[in-house]
Parts: sequence; structure tokens; C-alpha cells
Amino acid sequence: MYIEREDLKREFSSGLFSIITEVADQMGLECYAIGGYVRDLFLNRPSKDIDVVTVGRGIDLAKAVARKLGKKAHLSVFKNFGTAQIKYNDEEIEFVGARRESYNRGSRKPIVEDGTLKDDQNRRDFTINALAVCLNKDRLGELLDPFDGLQDMERLLIRTPLDPDITFSDDPLRMMRAIRFSSQLGFDIETSTFDAIARNKERIEIVSQERIIDELNKIVMSPKPSVGFKQLEQTGLLSIIFPELVALKGAETKDGVGHKDNFYHTIAVLDNISRKTDNLWLRWSAILHDIAKPATKRWDNRLGWTFHNHNFVGEKMVPHIFRRMKLPMNEKMKYVQKMVLLHMRPQVLVDENITDSAVRRLLFEAGDDIDDLMVLCEADITSKNEAKIRKYLNNFGLVRRKLKEIEEKDHVRNFQPPISGGEIMEMFGLSPSPVVGQLKSSLKDAVLDGKIPNEYNAAYDFLKNKAKLLGLDIKE
Ligand code: CTP
Repeated sequence: MYIEREDLKREFSSGLFSIITEVADQMGLECYAIGGYVRDLFLNRPSKDIDVVTVGRGIDLAKAVARKLGKKAHLSVFKNFGTAQIKYNDEEIEFVGARRESYNRGSRKPIVEDGTLKDDQNRRDFTINALAVCLNKDRLGELLDPFDGLQDMERLLIRTPLDPDITFSDDPLRMMRAIRFSSQLGFDIETSTFDAIARNKERIEIVSQERIIDELNKIVMSPKPSVGFKQLEQTGLLSIIFPELVALKGAETKDGVGHKDNFYHTIAVLDNISRKTDNLWLRWSAILHDIAKPATKRWDNRLGWTFHNHNFVGEKMVPHIFRRMKLPMNEKMKYVQKMVLLHMRPQVLVDENITDSAVRRLLFEAGDDIDDLMVLCEADITSKNEAKIRKYLNNFGLVRRKLKEIEEKDHVRNFQPPISGGEIMEMFGLSPSPVVGQLKSSLKDAVLDGKIPNEYNAAYDFLKNKAKLLGLDIKE
């Protein structure tokens, strides 16, 4: 974890840093690299944005650096926040003057005063994010680590620099950030920091949903998201931000028959799928696939616990959850709805014989998302029994082979009926009416059920016969 001063010096003398050093020295300003960039350097992670803190006049430094960099530098000044940003090539540097800062309780509006570097480090979220490296020439590479952040990196620990009640009341989103870093980095949260999250959980309500969902999505995208979700649940934050997921928790028993705990099942499915994909929306599909189980749970004397139609009810719940969470209400949401709706279909195929027409229907309904659906189904296997896992995977392997075979033969994945509604109206001299829809859907069914091939002539003959049965005349 430790990096020699000489190496830090080298790291911070290249490219943009050398210009910041030069300009800050000319202006006589104390200046440091701080926060995520320094943390990620020590953790050997790819680092993105650079944060620079100066003792006084952060915006002035940014302006002078931008001038020195010339035309390719894009400067934005956020006067209200006392910060400025430079975009240069694909790098982003944020400048801020060191601050003493406190927040009004009940609002996010900070009261800001100029401060020392130590003041600034005091008001940061975690010890591992408070490390600063001096950029001035005579102290270049000097590390300032007042809260033993380095040691916490070695101990794999998330801890607030101040009393956690103070750090969290300054910005309650930090409670979620603690959990996000824990899930992303595989760190533990120090006990008193963790307890403070549980104690202060209600304060999350003053944070905007946009900021909450950003952190939640980072937890979803972490290597093993169940780590974060368990902590969100244990601290009580999850009940506030995502009650539908907490409702999955618990396993009821009746007459000696239990059902699985669908919360732990869901986060196990999420871990499984996260080993296979970086697609945020496929991960969200895993989170939501069983979301309607509590709403559909019934006891049946013959069958035991049932969750009939939980896929249909779940599909309907998705837009409500997306809207409240401020997730996008566009094709991403529709994709998740489709995954939730169809997540049991491949299993039904296995149970009810993998017939060509059932496979064709599934291909038609899933379209290009069929492969993602199979990934979800495979991730949905959370049995601990090796033999069962092998059996299920083997069955899905059969489904995959059959899907491939039918798709190669019939091309129904992006199926368009060989004769359109417009052409049907033309053929029979019809104006838009229910009978057009009837003919169209009987044509679709005939193709998907394999009664006729997916071709124009066969469709034409089929429609002619159908029309005759309905008493329609065909215009030749
Ligand atoms: N910070 C903070 N409290 C917050 C957000 C940020 O104290 N609520 C401080 C931390 O010192 C953090 C730095 O500002 O390191 C930069 O914040 P940000 O860019 O949001 O996070 P990073 O730590 O850089 O991590 P990531 O890039 O993974 O989001």
C-alpha cells in the first residue's frame, strides 16, 4: 500500500500536474491533490477525475491554469459552490479552495468559510478519501494523512474522519457512499460508522433521489452487489429507499412447508448475473425478477406456497418503481419489464416439452434480448445442490440449442408477418377494423405455430382461406 515519496513525486510531476505546480507556485498558493484520485493511486485502481484543493482562491488558480493550458482547456466556474472545473483532452480537474463547512440541518445548503487544508480534510467523508499530496515544488509528493487513511486501506476499512454522526449529518448521502465503497472495494465498514448509519438512516430522506440512485447504481455495478444490499438492509436504509425489495425478506412456514427467503435469493441471483454481465439493466432485471412474489403469495392446500402470475404483476410494478427511483422511463425500463415478464418461460419450456412452436413463440416475444433472458434464467439457479444445478444448467443448455436451431431455420427472432395490416386491407378492400386485426393475428399465430412457413405465398393462401371462412371477398 505504501508508496515512496520519490514515486509520489514522479507521479505528480507529469503532464497537467507540472503545470498546476508551476502556476500555483507563481501565485504563491498552497495546493494539493486530494480525494478519490489519491485513494485510487494507493489502491492501484484506474483513477478518473482529479480533485485539487488550494488554501484560498481555488477559482483563481483554475482560471490561471486554464489560461496556461490554452485553447484546448475548457473552464467552467461554479461561483455558488466556490469550485471550478477544467476539461482538458479526456481529463477532468476540479479546483476548490480549502473550506470549513457545515450544513444547516434539514437542508443541503452549506455554510462555507475559508479554511486550512486540515479543515478541508476534516469535512471529507472517509479517511481513505481525505489523503492529500502536496503539489508545490518544494514539498512535491509530500503525503498528508491526518486520519490514518493509509492504514485503513491496509485494514480494508471504511471509517469517517470525524464522529460519524457529524460526518453523516453534513451530508446524509455519505451513508450510502460508505456502503457503496464497501461493496465496490470489498472493504468493511468500521462498527461505529456502521452503527451511525443505522442511527441516522432517516436523514437520507433530505437527499435528492437523483443522488440516491447514482449511489445505488454504483452498488448494483459493484463486483459483488449483495455485499452492499445486505448492508443497506441491515442499516435500515433499504426500507426507506426500496421497500419493495425488503418485502421479499422472510420465509413463512405452514404445515411444515416453507418457501425460500426471496430477498436472499434475489441478491444471490444478482451476484450470479454480475459475474456474467456489466449491463446495468440486466442486473436490474435480476433485482426485480421476483419483486411481485409478496403480492402474489398464496397458500394452496394441495400445492403449498404459490406465487402465481408474479411475473405479470412484477412487469406492472416495474414502471412504478422506475418512476419513483428516477430510473429512466424509456426503452431501458421496457427491457427490464420484458425480462421480468419472461423470466419463467424457458423453465416452462423445459417442464412442458420443448416443442418447436413454443420455442418460436419465445423467440418472437424476446427478440434480440433472448440471450440476456437465458443469462437471467441461468443466474436464477441458486440451489446449493450440485446435482440439481447441473440438471438445471443442462436443461437450459437444451433450450439454448433448440433456440439456435429454430432461429436458424425460421428467423422468427425479429419476426414481421410476411403480409402487413396495410396489405391485408388492400387485399380485401377493408378499412381499418377489428377484422383486420383478427386476420393479422391469425397469420402471426399460424407462422409461430409452424402451420405455415414464414413466406409471402403461404401467407397469401392462408389469408385467402381464412377470409373465405369469414365470408370476405378477395380482390384479385
Ligand atoms: N466527498 C465527500 N462527501 C461527499 C462526496 C464527496 O467528502 N458526499 C469528497 C471525498 O473526499 C471524495 C471527493 O469529495 O473523495 C470526490 O468525490 P467524488 O468524485 O464524488 O467521489 P470519489 O471519491 O472520487 O469516488 P468515485 O469517483 O468512485 O465516485
